[in-house]
Amino acid sequence: MKVSFANPAAPAKGIAVVFAAEGGKWTSTAAALDKKLKGALKRAAKAADFDGKKKQTMTVLAPGGSSLDRVLCVGVGKPADITAESMAETGGVIYAALKGTGKSAEMHVDDVPRSKLKAADIAANLAYGANLRAYAFEKYKGKEKRDKKPGIDTLSVKCDGSAAARSAYGDLAKVAEGVYYTRDLVSEPANILYPAEFAKRLKRDLTKLGVKVTVLGEAQMKKLGMGSLLSVGDGSARESQMVVMEWNGLPPSKRKNSKPISFIGKGVCFDTGGISLKPAAGMDDMKWDMGGAGVVSGLMMALAGRKAKCHVIGAVGLVENMPDGKATRPGDIVKSMSGQTIEILNTDAEGRLVLCDVLHYVNTKFKPEFMVNLATLTGAIIISLGAERAGMFSNDDKLSDKIFAAGETIGERVWRFPLGEEYDRDLDTAAADMRNIGSGRGAGSIIAAQFLKRFVGDTPWAHLDIAGVTWSKKDTPVVPRGGTAFGVRLLERFVADNYE
Ligand code: BES
Ligand code: MN
Ligand code: ZN
Repeated sequence: MKVSFANPAAPAKGIAVVFAAEGGKWTSTAAALDKKLKGALKRAAKAADFDGKKKQTMTVLAPGGSSLDRVLCVGVGKPADITAESMAETGGVIYAALKGTGKSAEMHVDDVPRSKLKAADIAANLAYGANLRAYAFEKYKGKEKRDKKPGIDTLSVKCDGSAAARSAYGDLAKVAEGVYYTRDLVSEPANILYPAEFAKRLKRDLTKLGVKVTVLGEAQMKKLGMGSLLSVGDGSARESQMVVMEWNGLPPSKRKNSKPISFIGKGVCFDTGGISLKPAAGMDDMKWDMGGAGVVSGLMMALAGRKAKCHVIGAVGLVENMPDGKATRPGDIVKSMSGQTIEILNTDAEGRLVLCDVLHYVNTKFKPEFMVNLATLTGAIIISLGAERAGMFSNDDKLSDKIFAAGETIGERVWRFPLGEEYDRDLDTAAADMRNIGSGRGAGSIIAAQFLKRFVGDTPWAHLDIAGVTWSKKDTPVVPRGGTAFGVRLLERFVADNYE
């Protein structure tokens, strides 16, 4: 969607979007338009019970005395409650309300008395939310099969301080590009997006933005001793890969001795379960078992795209978990890069086997200030939290508090779970240093987190289990159904608020 900003102008033709705060308090442009239309908006509002509540909309068609085709009236709620996130959501609602009505629209944003946000910031966030909602993955549909009611592709925003709005939107649009990138990766089927193709795309798309992208193949990982990660791909015809991305946006004076921050993602391009094969029903969902790696990739794109002033490492372990004659068997024992041995009792608990080697690699190679990993790790987290929140597990209160706070601010929310020695003990086994599953008496998400914790040493670390939030079955204001990219906006905000 193309977005432009200009100074205020009276709505004259085509599609106009105007606003009211709760209690029927119309903004100045809306009130002036109503006057010009001889009270048509206020009469319609009365008839339709529109009074400016948050996300409420009302459409007035072809009002007499104007050349307007359509006026979309939108509620912004109570002025004191207006936040960047509430305006982004409202922007998403506007995009959805205009879907199928025309190719372009004009949005008229004025200052809302008693709101903490200026018109320029309201305008930028409305446009941002509309852009986030405008995503669609249709590349494999023929022209005639595509959505017959496409959304608006040109949004012109009229507001005071249009230069400030344009500049605020500039950074937000870069974050949206990262979100789109993640959604694209997550939506791709596994016959197209296998580990080497994933790695190739990262090299191509992120190098352009000034990110240093290093791809390691199986031979290099074998040399490093990554027997755990490699065991997951043993049954696949596709070569496993690890991709390390580095963005350094620190000014030269601050580069010396700076510890990078780091993000690590599970990239299982398809998870059949391996020899511990999954049931057929719903197995297609496992094309998005690379969601964690997708988020790390989109996050790197967002941060590099807006030239974030920080030093960041992103690392993803890319594998395909398949059953064949070379596949890992239940009972096999492998040695991780850390030297710890693992008895693999269930080949479907593969995400942790990938992550443990990438975590150890990043920790020892970069000595980061912290590590945050994302993974569609357990079905159990969906039982716990559904699609509303991601699970968070951490060895560090400060780190996890910051992530929690960022989530509340931007609406990608997390909930922290406990860790503890009693859970950790469930990973002990007679034959090796640990096994990859617990004894099967509940707490599956926590036990998976305990497994990862054995590989992070004393480094502050947080694990986000995003199995329930990576794919959405329904539309929400800024997320159309499909791949959500949950985590990109969360961690982008977490970085912006704490590490720049
Ligand atoms: N990728 C799955 C987890 C998952 C399930 C993600 C459903 C999204 C939707 C993971 O690799 C897995 O299979 N986990 C097992 C672990 C078990 C064998 C200990 C699970 O959750 O059942
Ligand atoms: Mn699995
Ligand atoms: Zn998996």
